[in-house]
Amino acid sequence: MKICVIGSGGREHAICKTLYKSKDLKELYCCPGNAGTNKIAKNVDIKLENFEELKNFIIQKKIDLVVVGPEKPLVEGLVDYLEKFKIKTFGPNKIASQLEGSKIFTKEICKKYNIPTANFGIFNNKDNAIDFLKNSNFPIVIKADNIASGKGVYISQNLIEAKIAVNEIFNGKFGQTKNILIEEFLEGEEMSYFIISDGITIKKFGTAQDHKRVGEGDKGKNTGGMGAYSPSKLINDELEKKILYKIINPTLKALEDLKTNYKGFLYAGLMIYKNNPYLIEYNVRMGDPECQTILPKLKTDLNQIFLACCSESLAKINIEWKDQKSLCVVLCSNGYPESYEKDVEILGLDKIKLNENDELFHAGTNEKNGKIYATGGRVLNFVSLSKNFKESKKNVYKNLKKLNWSGGFYRKDIGFKVVE
Ligand code: AMP
Ligand code: GLY
Repeated sequence: MKICVIGSGGREHAICKTLYKSKDLKELYCCPGNAGTNKIAKNVDIKLENFEELKNFIIQKKIDLVVVGPEKPLVEGLVDYLEKFKIKTFGPNKIASQLEGSKIFTKEICKKYNIPTANFGIFNNKDNAIDFLKNSNFPIVIKADNIASGKGVYISQNLIEAKIAVNEIFNGKFGQTKNILIEEFLEGEEMSYFIISDGITIKKFGTAQDHKRVGEGDKGKNTGGMGAYSPSKLINDELEKKILYKIINPTLKALEDLKTNYKGFLYAGLMIYKNNPYLIEYNVRMGDPECQTILPKLKTDLNQIFLACCSESLAKINIEWKDQKSLCVVLCSNGYPESYEKDVEILGLDKIKLNENDELFHAGTNEKNGKIYATGGRVLNFVSLSKNFKESKKNVYKNLKKLNWSGGFYRKDIGFKVVE
C-alpha cells in the first residue's frame, strides 16, 4: 500500500507514525509534512490549495489511499475533488464538512433536529448585533461564522467587550465573514468526543479533554491546544448514550436528509453540565493535540480502519484500545499564540531517549542540513501512556525537562483535573 497523509501538524505526525506500524504499508508520503514525518515518510512540497498538482502527484505515484488531516482542505472540497478521479480518500465531503466550516450550518441543524446546544442568534450587520447585545445577559459568546483555527470566538463579560468583538469580526480579523453568531454562555466542563464513520456505520474513537488556554489554571488567550489527556474523566455509559442519541445520530440523520453522509473522523466539542451534553461545535477531523493523545492507545491497524471507511465495511472491524491513560503536553514557541520568532533551532532533541510508552510528535518543525528548526507556534508534542495519569504526567515532564529548550515554553499543569 502507498499512502499519502495531508497536513503538517502534530496530528499528521501521529497519523503517519500509527500508519507506519501497518504491515501492509509500502510507501508513506506526507504533504507537506514536518521534520518528524520526514523521518518515516517522504515529505512532499505541494501547496494544499493546489488540488490539481496534488491530484497529479497522487496519480503519478500510484497512491492507494489519501488521508486528509486538517479542516481547511476538507471544507474546500478536497475529498470530492480527489474522488472524481477515483482516488480513495479518507475524510468527509464538502457538504458534510460544513459542520465545521460554517457554525451557522451546524446551528440550523441543531435547531431542526432538537440537538442540545446554546441558544443563538445570527446577525449580518454590526448595528443589529449591537442592538441585540444591549438587551442581553453577560457573559455572552460571539463567534465569526468561518473557520478561524480556534480563534474567532469571544467570551464577552460586558457590552464594551462585546462591541469590540463585533467590530473586530466584521472588520475581517478572522478573514471575510458575512455573519456572526451570538450565543448563550454555557456552564459546565468541556469534553472532546470522537467517532469514525464509513457513511453507514459509526464507531467510537475515544474521548479527551484539552487545555485551550495558553496560561496555567486555564487562563489567558485561546490557542489551538496546549495539552490533552484521554480518556476524559467525565465520560460514563449514561452520558455516552445521551451523546450518541441526542447529538451524533440526529446530526448524521440531518446529513442523510441533505442526501449525503459522513465518512471520516467526527469530533464533537461538548459542554457537559450535570451529566448532560450540549454541542459547542463540530470539527470534521481529529483534534490536535487530542489525536496525538488518543492514537498511541490504538491497538487495531489504522490502515485497515481507514480502508474499511473507504469501502463502507467499518461494521466488520473491531477497534481495540489499550486500557491506559494518555497525557500530552505541547511545547510552543515563545510568544505563542501572539507573534513568535520563526526558524529557531531546537537544540537537544538527540538527548531524549523515549521509553516504550512515550511518544514525541513534531508539529511546527522543519529540517535543514540535519538540524531541526521551530517554524510554527506549536512545535512538539510529548505524550506518555501509563496505568494512571499521575505517572503519564511524570514521564512527559521528565522528557520535557531533558530537552530544556530556551526557545519554547509549555504549561506545567496539563491534566490538573485528573492528577492531584
Ligand atoms: P469553538 O471554536 O466554537 O469551539 O469555541 C472555542 C471555545 O470557546 C470553546 O472550546 C469553549 O471553551 C468556548 N465556548 C464556545 N462557545 C461557548 C458557549 N456557548 N459557552 C461557553 N463557552 C463557549
Ligand atoms: N484541540 C482543539 C482542536 O483540535 O480544535
